[in-house]
Parts: sequence; C-alpha cells; structure tokens
Amino acid sequence: MIQHCPTPTELDDLELLASGAYAPLRRFNEPGSVVTLRLPEGVDEAELVDPEGLPLARVSADGSLEPLTHAQYGPFRRLHLTPAEVRAQHAGATFVPVADALTDGDLAQLRELGRVVLLALTGTGTATLSPVALVRASLAAAELLGDATVVAVPLPSHGDAEADHALGTQVVATYAGGDPVRALADHDGDLPAPIAAIVDEDRPAADEQGLVLFFTGLSGSGKSTLARALMDLLLERGGRTVTSLDGDVVRRHLSAGLTFSRADRETNIRRIGWVAAEIARHGGVAVCSPIAPFAETRQQVREMVEAAGGAFFLVHVATPLEECERRDRKGLYAKARAGEIPDFTGISSPYEEPEDAAVRVDTTGRSVEDALHDVLVALDESGHLHLTGGHA
Ligand code: ADX
Repeated sequence: MIQHCPTPTELDDLELLASGAYAPLRRFNEPGSVVTLRLPEGVDEAELVDPEGLPLARVSADGSLEPLTHAQYGPFRRLHLTPAEVRAQHAGATFVPVADALTDGDLAQLRELGRVVLLALTGTGTATLSPVALVRASLAAAELLGDATVVAVPLPSHGDAEADHALGTQVVATYAGGDPVRALADHDGDLPAPIAAIVDEDRPAADEQGLVLFFTGLSGSGKSTLARALMDLLLERGGRTVTSLDGDVVRRHLSAGLTFSRADRETNIRRIGWVAAEIARHGGVAVCSPIAPFAETRQQVREMVEAAGGAFFLVHVATPLEECERRDRKGLYAKARAGEIPDFTGISSPYEEPEDAAVRVDTTGRSVEDALHDVLVALDESGHLHLTGGHA
C-alpha cells in the first residue's frame, strides 16, 4: 500500500474524523460532504502519513478510515484533546468556540458563565489569527478568566461558508456533549493588553511583515537583473535581512540535479517556496527569480508564504519571447531552436502567464532603473516596501 501525505486541510479533517469530532460523519468523500480527500491519480487505497512520515490511518476506496495513531504533528499538541477526553475531564462546563482574539466585552460575558472550555478553532483557514496566535490569545484569555481551559480543535475551512458553519456547529456540539454552548457574537470592547500584544505580534504592519518578492518570466526576460537591482536598494537602505533565491543559482545548490521536466520544475519551485516561506516567517525579505512557468506551482508558493504569515508579491517580468530570444545572452535560445536543449521554456515547454501578478513589467527598450521603478511604485502602494524616495 502506498503512503500518502494529505494536504493541511485534509490532515485537519482526518484528525476530526478519527477523534469522532465529526460524528456522525466518520469517513472522507461521503456524497455531498465537503470533507474530502484526494488521493494521487490511480490510487484508491493508501496509508495516510503526517509530514514527518508517521502513519496516521489507512484509507480505503470509499473514504473509510482505519485509524493507526493519534496525530502528533504541529504546535500545541497537548491541547488537542478528543471529544471523549474532553467529556472525561470537563463535563459540566460551558463550551465556547473561539476563532479570534477575545475582547474585554467577551471576557465579561464569559465571567458570567462559571467554568468554560475555550474551543480554539485552529484548523487551516478558519481563524482570523494564525493558529499559533489563536492558541496563545486563547491561553492568555483563559489566564485572565481564571476558571477556563483551552482545547485546540483543528476545524478547517473548506471554502463553503454554509457547509463549514454546519460542520462547526456539529463539532462544537460533539465536544460539549449536552453541556451548554455559548457563541460569542459581537466582540465588543478592546483587547486586554496581553492579548493585544499577541495580536500585534501576529499581524505586523505591512512594512514589517515577512515578504517574498517573486519575479517570474521567461529566461532572459530580465528577472535576475531586476531582482539584483532591487536587492541593492534594499541592502543600501538597510534595516531588513535579504536573501536571494535566483533560479540559476538555486539550481547549483538547493535544486542541484533536477532537470527541466514539468515534475522537476515543480519540485524546484516548491523548494524555493519552502525556503522563502521560512524566511518570511522570520520577518525577512526573500527575492526569488526563477522562471516558475506553472500557475499552480506559483499558487502553492503563495499559499506556503501566506501560511507562514508572509506577504507574497508576484512580479511578472513580461518581456516577450521575441525580445528574450533576440537578447539570448547565454546562447540558450539558439541551442533550443537547434534542438540541443529539450523542454526549453517558450520554445518547447510552456510558460503560463500569471493572472494574479501584483505588477507586470515588460523590459523591452527600457533601462533597469526605469523598469524597476514600476515595481517600486507597486510595492510602495502595497505598503510592503518604501524604496521609491531618492531612487525614482
Ligand atoms: S524553472 O522552470 O524551474 O523555474 P529555473 O528558473 O530554475 O527554471 O531555471 C531556468 C534557467 O535554467 C534559465 O535561466 C536557463 O539559464 C537555464 N536552463 C537550462 N535549460 C533550460 C530549459 N530547458 N528551460 C528553461 N531554462 C533552462
């Protein structure tokens, strides 16, 4: 049986299915349900493993599960109790689902309720805060309340508000098991100081947030040149850490040995995205300049970066093929035309033009400074970097 590592949303769903939190739903791919699992093409049975390779469950063709081990991956595992564990430890409390930081007004309401269990909804895409910040803010609230406990419930969003609301209600009721549930409605009041500090840390101002500047375009379009000029401006100004992840350079180190097949290009871009997301997590700036010809892979990078709390800023260096080929600085287009280089982007391998770029620059007939100016203006408008002054 093959091993398969599900997506973050699928892993969240798996945990809730296996713990009984989704009961009566107990399997994936029930007709009409948003709780779905996509296995690789041609596979209908698999051992599901977490990102560290720990086998979690076997899944059969109809989506039914045979759980193997409790999930152990990710932060704050000790707070991930099953509904049965919560029933055993907290029967008689009032259950409160929490998807945001609690305000003074919320805490005042909760103080009326006696013992409460805060169900922090940490699943992928559900809370307004990052999962870590939501847990931290909920723990801080529990501390302020005194008689309160935090349980992390990885209820993910499936992008269907109605279905997600119904699932959420069901999950909370399962945890409460007949005890009262209280939903916090209006979030009136200010955030208490310790909670405000956690929220501020989670949502830095745009110009302090980790940033991934991702230049995509054909070979010879000017990505590296623009990226280098931008790095110089950043380095000259100081104050931010900057890492370059240039396509050609990455292929000498991080991606050494990969080919230009579709699969290897996807791997290459995902590696760049993984590193860039970690840089963003630490508040740094990553300047990436690979061809990155596939929209789906670029989207995956965007998601990785955003999940790490960073901003993803896509620059399409839209210099047309004719111009790239006319420049042919490395002589590669000539070789590709002569059939000496297979799968060459723009010649014998596709480039999918981005529709989600923050800015598009065609460098044809323009100086580096001039072309870069377009990028700087867009960055300035986005609030992520203010580099226009003095260099425009
Ligand atoms: S990507 O498609 O995986 O994003 P990447 O940016 O890493 O490509 O590498 C592109 C660089 O590799 C080009 O600038 C060029 O110098 C070189 N190269 C060698 N073979 C190819 C090819 N078949 N297609 C495109 N670029 C190639």
